[in-house]
Amino acid sequence: MRIPDDGGVPRTIRHDVVDSTNERAFASLAEGIALDADVHVALGQTSGRGRLGRRWESPTGDGLYLSFIHLPPSPGPPPPAITMAAGLAVLEACGELGLDGARLEWPNDVVVGDAKLAGILVESRGYDPARPHFVVGIGVNVRQRSFPTELAEERLVTSLALEGVTQDPNELLDCLVPRLAARLASTIDSQEDLARDYVDATGLEGARVSVTTGKQRVEGRLLSLDLENGVLVDSVDGPVTLDLAHVHALDRCSL
Ligand code: BTN
Repeated sequence: MRIPDDGGVPRTIRHDVVDSTNERAFASLAEGIALDADVHVALGQTSGRGRLGRRWESPTGDGLYLSFIHLPPSPGPPPPAITMAAGLAVLEACGELGLDGARLEWPNDVVVGDAKLAGILVESRGYDPARPHFVVGIGVNVRQRSFPTELAEERLVTSLALEGVTQDPNELLDCLVPRLAARLASTIDSQEDLARDYVDATGLEGARVSVTTGKQRVEGRLLSLDLENGVLVDSVDGPVTLDLAHVHALDRCSL
C-alpha cells in the first residue's frame, strides 16, 4: 500500500489485490488515519462485496474498484442522497468517456439496456450523526469481454469494452473522482437539483412504476421523487407517498 500517491486532496491510496476496497477504507477509518475524500483503489479484489450480501466479481486489472471516504459535516445528508450522488457521478464519468445510452436503475446501478455496467455499495459502521461517515464503494466493469457463467446467469452484465468504450480503469478513475466529490457536496446544498438529475437519469419521470418497500408494493405513475417527500406515486387508490429510505425496488412496470 502507498499513501498518498499525489500529496494532494483527494488522496489516492493505491492497493494491489486486496480483500475489498471498502474494507481498506474502513480499516483506515478505524486506525484514525482517514481523511475526507480519500480514495482507496485496487487492481483487484478477492472478496469484493455487492449490495444485499452479493459478491462483486473483481478480476485483476479488468475493472475499476474504488472506495471513497465521505466525512460530511454533522448531521450529514440523508443516506439516499449519497446513493443518488454516487450513481450520477459514475453515469456522468462513463458518459464523459464516450458511453451512450446508459441510465440509472434504483438505487444506483448503472445499466446499458438491461445489462449492469457498474454497482455502488454505500456503507457506514456504528453511524454517529455527530460525526457522519460514509464509505462509497464503486465497481465498474471496464475491460471485461466475458463474465463468469454464474454471474451472467444471474443478470445481464456488460463492460465499457463491450459497449465500445475501451478505457484504462485509471482514466475512468481520473474522470470519476472530481465528479463524485462535486455530487457528494451537492447532497448538502443542492438537494433539489440532485433529485431532479437523478430522476432524469432513471428515465422514469411520468412512467408507470412499481415501488416496493419492506411493507408494501405500489404501482402507478411516478409523479415525483425528492429527498424531502420521498416517492409520490399516482396509484389506482389515489396518490401514495413512500419514504425513500424504505424503497427496495423502483422499476418501470409493464402494465
Ligand atoms: C452492487 O451493485 O451490488 C454494488 C457493488 C459494489 C462493488 C464495489 S467494488 C469496490 C468496493 N469494494 C467492495 O467490496 N465493493 C465495492
